[in-house]
Amino acid sequence: MQDKLLYIETYGCQMNEYDTNRIRTALNCKSTDDPEQADIILVNTCAIREKADQKAFSSLGKFKHLKKRNPEMVLGITGCVAQLYGKKLIERMPYLDLVLGPRAIPNLPSLISEIQSNKSSKVETSFDIEELFEYHPYHQEGKVTAFVSIQQGCNKRCSYCIVPTVRGDEANRPLDDIIKESIMLINKGVKEITLIGQTVNSWKYNGYKFGELLEILSELEGLERLRFTTSYPRDVTKKMIRSMSLSSKICNHIHLPVQSGSNNVLKKMKRTYTKDWYIDSVNRLKESIPGISITSDFIVGFPGESDEDFQQTLNLINDLEFDASFSFKFSPRPGTVASEYQKSEYVPDNIASKRLSELQKLQRDITFRKNKSREGRIEQVLVDSRSKKNENLLSGRTSQNRITNFAGKQELIGKIVNVKIKEGLPNSLRGELIE
Ligand code: 5AD
Repeated sequence: MQDKLLYIETYGCQMNEYDTNRIRTALNCKSTDDPEQADIILVNTCAIREKADQKAFSSLGKFKHLKKRNPEMVLGITGCVAQLYGKKLIERMPYLDLVLGPRAIPNLPSLISEIQSNKSSKVETSFDIEELFEYHPYHQEGKVTAFVSIQQGCNKRCSYCIVPTVRGDEANRPLDDIIKESIMLINKGVKEITLIGQTVNSWKYNGYKFGELLEILSELEGLERLRFTTSYPRDVTKKMIRSMSLSSKICNHIHLPVQSGSNNVLKKMKRTYTKDWYIDSVNRLKESIPGISITSDFIVGFPGESDEDFQQTLNLINDLEFDASFSFKFSPRPGTVASEYQKSEYVPDNIASKRLSELQKLQRDITFRKNKSREGRIEQVLVDSRSKKNENLLSGRTSQNRITNFAGKQELIGKIVNVKIKEGLPNSLRGELIE
């Protein structure tokens, strides 16, 4: 397939970004940014909320005319929307050649060959693929950060979540395999690895648990920083906290979605912890890892969420002062327990919207205040690129995951440098290089 050109569009989480890069390796062909030139067009999709899967449909619609013009071109949908709707997608969009679930990437090359020779469409949504982690992701030369997937699927059964349906049960990647991929990346010049998994800290393999994995990887020579995402609150263990506190390479940041500050709602979400239990975990993290930044996700307007429940979420945000958070209106997903709640329990959309903007305003104020509190400090920044907004500036992240921009030479990309913070902005820091 080396003479073919691949165009791939990616939606959703880091796992999808990672899968896109695995697809690039699997197909072993050149990539193009121009769909008009492509021999293979793939849309790697996200199904987490309704809006996300609508994006997938409109994206595919954009390519219909290209398929008409060039019937030899292969047009496919991959990822979570592909898994969710399977062959129905071909019924709805007969011009599609391929529907491929996220666990079936290892079968992609043979499927594309079959499509090209038989001129018939293929649907592959099986969860029975043995070599789940086959194909190391394509790594762009010179990039100093990389993801390493340590887990696929999810064993938690949060009542709102589509992930177990579309990504299957939790499958943990063998330790050796994780180490091998990490070393390969370090040898290519990667300085910072982010371990990814739906509930990354639930990872376990042959008696090893996540805390030990952190310890082992943080000792890899040449690796400067180690991050991980997303953590599940119930699986924050003593050992994990200890590994984080003992290694200076493990960054001072944890993304620990709480979803709600109300015990009633948490129970209906089947999150398996209470508000106090969550607060206690955060306090343990803060005590052992001074200055750790804590970020979270929230769902507002969950069925049955009252004004009082929502107020408890705001109180929690005020009490714990998250460094940042992502928040969403509840979106019922097909087949989930929460989608079956009576319509009478649904929070009206205008109220959900109001709650969302109130929460986001509160979070914006806290994030801004926290960024301002860094002014005058010296931060260690791993420089990863030029700033997106201003080509004259370099950009990197602090250990706490704050984006920091400052003037400096290109050669600093890939280095950890000291930056004196001059200004805390709403979503980033501005500083000055200290030689
Ligand atoms: N509706 C709204 N938000 C959702 N999330 C997951 N499922 C849903 C849903 N059905 C949010 C959660 C999760 C983040 C990735 O997406 O906050 O942590």
